[in-house]
Amino acid sequence: MQRRLIGVFDSGVGGLSVARHIDRDLPNTSFIYFGDTYYVPYGEREPQEVVRLIDKICHHLLESKAEALVMACNTSSALAYDHVKAWSPVPVIGIIEEAAQAALQASRHGRIGVLANMLTASSGAYERACAKHKDESAHKSAEVFPVGCPKLVPLIEKGQVSGAEAEAALREYWQPLLNNGVDTVIFGCTHYPFLRPLLEKIAGPDIAIIDPAYYVAEHLKRLGFEAENEGEGCYEPAERIYQVSGDADKFAQTAEILLGYKIGRVDHINL
Ligand code: DGL
Repeated sequence: MQRRLIGVFDSGVGGLSVARHIDRDLPNTSFIYFGDTYYVPYGEREPQEVVRLIDKICHHLLESKAEALVMACNTSSALAYDHVKAWSPVPVIGIIEEAAQAALQASRHGRIGVLANMLTASSGAYERACAKHKDESAHKSAEVFPVGCPKLVPLIEKGQVSGAEAEAALREYWQPLLNNGVDTVIFGCTHYPFLRPLLEKIAGPDIAIIDPAYYVAEHLKRLGFEAENEGEGCYEPAERIYQVSGDADKFAQTAEILLGYKIGRVDHINL
């Protein structure tokens, strides 16, 4: 019997920070991961172009029989969640709303920083999500401080998550958050959780760090994916399929650096 399949996508390697949780927490559920590496970084593109790229990827994943679409990408969640949800025949999972709720819970003083690419930072998506949920939290007057971080994705796409260049870039983007007295920081880009050791070093132990990737696996479980795959029956092994629009070998090499294990075969696909 075929296992149920989830479609997961991002502009590049960033969504692997989400896929690794699905890999670990839903071992009996198959997934197909699409990295749009030919077009990475999304943060430097026009919003309409990014929405067009996302539509193509979602159609491809649905043609591949995905039964849920996971936007393992803040930019997609910020710009195209409502749009894709309106036409998709399967559930669409964004990553912003639950991260905003978690940040409101974790924050001590309601001062929340968001490190993101330029598009997500200027979209207002995290401000809206926090505004929607702040009345349920202890922080009725929570404030959100987004910072656009254009240098980070190109470094992470090369596997450069430590060293002087990555540290200097992260310090530059951390400074305005420090100036604003934030006590909580959201990784507003799925690439950035790979910089977590560096951010912990720079920000220190008193800052709560929220990784939106953490909440996606729980969401999928709530939708019944893993439970249904665990039922009686003669199942095929769960599959992990990796596809990219750019260089497949480069993606596999960077993935190994970031995850610390080999992901296996990566296929190049022209959409
Ligand atoms: N990792 C993606 C995100 O979460 C996209 C980053 C980019 O390509 O700029 O927004």
